[in-house]
Amino acid sequence: MEERLQFSASQNQAFGTHMPGTQVSGTQIQEDPYAKLFTGKTILITGGTGFLGRELTRRLIKYDVQSIRLFSRDEVKHFHTSQKFNKNPKLRHLIGDVRDYNRLRKALRGVDIVIHAAALKRIDIIEYNVEESIRTNVMGSLNVARAAWDEGVAKALFVSTDKACSPVNTYGACKFIGERIFTEWNYSRGSVPTIFSSVRYGNVLDSTGSVIPCFSKRLKEGKEITLTDDKMTRFIITPDEAVDLIFDALLHAIGGEVFIPKLPAFNIVDLIEVLKKHYNASVPVSNIGIRPGEKIHEILTNDCEGRRAYHFGNYVVIKSDIEKHKQSETFSYLDGAQKIDWDEMSSKDFVVSQEKLYDILISNNLLK
Ligand SMILES: NC(=O)c1ccc[n+]([C@@H]2O[C@H](COP(=O)([O-])OP(=O)(O)OC[C@H]3O[C@@H](n4cnc5c(N)ncnc54)[C@H](OP(=O)(O)O)[C@@H]3O)[C@@H](O)[C@H]2O)c1
Repeated sequence: MEERLQFSASQNQAFGTHMPGTQVSGTQIQEDPYAKLFTGKTILITGGTGFLGRELTRRLIKYDVQSIRLFSRDEVKHFHTSQKFNKNPKLRHLIGDVRDYNRLRKALRGVDIVIHAAALKRIDIIEYNVEESIRTNVMGSLNVARAAWDEGVAKALFVSTDKACSPVNTYGACKFIGERIFTEWNYSRGSVPTIFSSVRYGNVLDSTGSVIPCFSKRLKEGKEITLTDDKMTRFIITPDEAVDLIFDALLHAIGGEVFIPKLPAFNIVDLIEVLKKHYNASVPVSNIGIRPGEKIHEILTNDCEGRRAYHFGNYVVIKSDIEKHKQSETFSYLDGAQKIDWDEMSSKDFVVSQEKLYDILISNNLLK
């Protein structure tokens, strides 16, 4: 993993590409590149009261934005989010369901940027609620794209997941379609200038339902940990890295791309060992076997995508697969960029040591 990341970093120097998110001139770091993107803008986040929505809000309110519209269904989550941000006057709390096109259209009136993060995302629960996943994760995404187009929103970004790459479960398959919708709308858009793009990444540390807080709690309570497969590996990303990725995609996208961060990964047994040592706790670990729709390793790009995927600083960018789109777009920010030479970008090839994993958890304040 280290080798791959070092390789890509040196490649960036060789190609003179800047690291997205910073602008380096000599030894001087220049002004925040996102400031221009967000100043005076109205931004709507579907799923704005969820984990990612709150992280995006935390970062966005530091800019001179016009307003941030948080769009989701549950009024209690809206109430807690409003409290968390001390009723910040830049925030607007919009109750609505992405299944409802008319509501979305009204919510998107006057919006410059929409970040579509709303989703049903519990893999195991979704396997037994396929139709509900289609309604929210597929039809909801189609509604967001269509409403953004109808309202002339300048930028529309879809938040996808590693599960969308060669999907093996309903959640991943629905997210795969979501990506395709956001790519396709770039060339169905006619004279409307909306730029549609996606980001795809792995498990966010400490997000809703994530494994680290769950295992930590069981260790602290002295309760058994259940494990589905001891070979399992997973990519990891910090909340700030996920937000950076989204901001960078909004900054650079010219339409139809999927932006993917180069991420470290961990082995599940290593994670348990690290947590056991940290909490000085020993609990039984039982192997319950793989769950419906679960993968042993996650992949962020597959071999088909690799043919149109390029290094871009700390990211990989997959260009659109649509022939018409390929002909019409220049992708100037990728000029001179090198194609990735991996068959697939699999979490099994990016596993960090237990020591490195411990550092990541400590530096992100996850071991409380
Ligand atoms: N967390 C991760 O590790 C991870 C990794 C990769 C990608 N992602 C993606 O990142 C996005 C955000 O994830 P998260 O961790 O923030 O999830 P989360 O904490 O579960 O939040 C989901 C948000 O979506 C809203 N929502 C759900 N169904 C909705 C609907 N029909 N209409 C409007 N809003 C709806 C929820 O609020 P209500 O229930 O009140 O409507 C909530 O605000 C998702 O698209 C997910 O697929 C997450």
